[in-house]
Amino acid sequence: MFEDLLRRWDGEEAVIHFDEPSGAWMFVCVHSTVLGPAGGGTRMRVYEQPADGLADAMRLSQAMTVKMAVAGAERGGGKAVLAVPELPTGDARRKLLLRYGELVASLGGTYRTAGDMNIAPADLDIVKERCQWVYGTTGASGNSGRGTAIGVLHGIRAACEHVFGSADLNGRSVLVQGAGSVGRDLARFLEADGATVLVSDVDAARAAEAGGTVVPARDALVTECDVYSPCAVGGTLSAETIPALRCRIVAGSANNQLATPEDAQRLHDRGILYAPDYVINAGGVIQLIGLEDQGWDEAELERNLAAIGDTLRQLFREADEAGITPAAAAERLAAQRIAAKRA
Ligand SMILES: NC(=O)c1ccc[n+]([C@@H]2O[C@H](COP(=O)([O-])OP(=O)(O)OC[C@H]3O[C@@H](n4cnc5c(N)ncnc54)[C@H](O)[C@@H]3O)[C@@H](O)[C@H]2O)c1
Repeated sequence: MFEDLLRRWDGEEAVIHFDEPSGAWMFVCVHSTVLGPAGGGTRMRVYEQPADGLADAMRLSQAMTVKMAVAGAERGGGKAVLAVPELPTGDARRKLLLRYGELVASLGGTYRTAGDMNIAPADLDIVKERCQWVYGTTGASGNSGRGTAIGVLHGIRAACEHVFGSADLNGRSVLVQGAGSVGRDLARFLEADGATVLVSDVDAARAAEAGGTVVPARDALVTECDVYSPCAVGGTLSAETIPALRCRIVAGSANNQLATPEDAQRLHDRGILYAPDYVINAGGVIQLIGLEDQGWDEAELERNLAAIGDTLRQLFREADEAGITPAAAAERLAAQRIAAKRA
């Protein structure tokens, strides 16, 4: 099964390591280093079979290549997965993370990690004991949710400008799905901009704390609004849900919002403008790289987060001119940047 996946993959390098003491498989996928060292988070998860973890790492690392290229970061795409038999705790977790740190260190900086699912800053602190190529440790550059939320805010403004002719959010209705680390900040920023904010979360108490009007979680996709902002889970846009949407714009932080690539066209056909997830949610990555690598101050960070809005304006324009979806325009831009660097 690993063999099939490796044959089909177009990435540069996949490191596969079985960690005997824990029974975990470690997969580090370096999809591309053309634009710079491969960056991407480490995910810890239980999978039905190890090959599912490798497939996840491959797919996610490829998405990171496109995300970094569109964001203009001097980084390639990578991703790592720790496919564990069960989520470890205590000493077993610490030892696993130390051994993982040694594996990443052995790659000499080709792959540089941050957190992802089930990997918190405190876990990264442990990885960093054995490896210098670690971002997002405790206190390093703060919660990346804030940078992501600011990027999404700029993206929503750009999308409104494209659809309604003005980036002014005063009076625009935005439904924020998911009042977590990103959604909470986003709801606050939107309110400050004068938008009418609707918030929905499976945890109703969280939704209530975020401010705005609470919408029951099951109604999020069918509630009338100008902007639907998915900031919870992926896969909410599908052949089943798109026909029922009552918004003009989809612009949010969730990763992998489209259930299938064809859903970009489905949104387009319904006249709904879609801000590609990996473009609009790049603020977290920009914050990590900018503050921890480039030595930016807050003002420089703010400028770079605002550039997410400019990139989206450009993509929306190019998509219209070429008669393609913004997602296709984003992939084209990434391919051009990578080809130019290669040349
Ligand atoms: N935090 C970042 O910097 C960052 C960067 C890029 C992308 N993202 C993506 O953005 C999304 C949100 O990230 P986060 O850090 O805020 O996560 P989080 O875990 O802090 O918050 C997610 C929230 O969504 C809620 N939720 C879960 N399932 C839901 C559902 N079906 N309907 C409504 N609410 C639901 C949870 O209760 C929680 O409050 C995720 O998809 C994440 O991968 C986050």
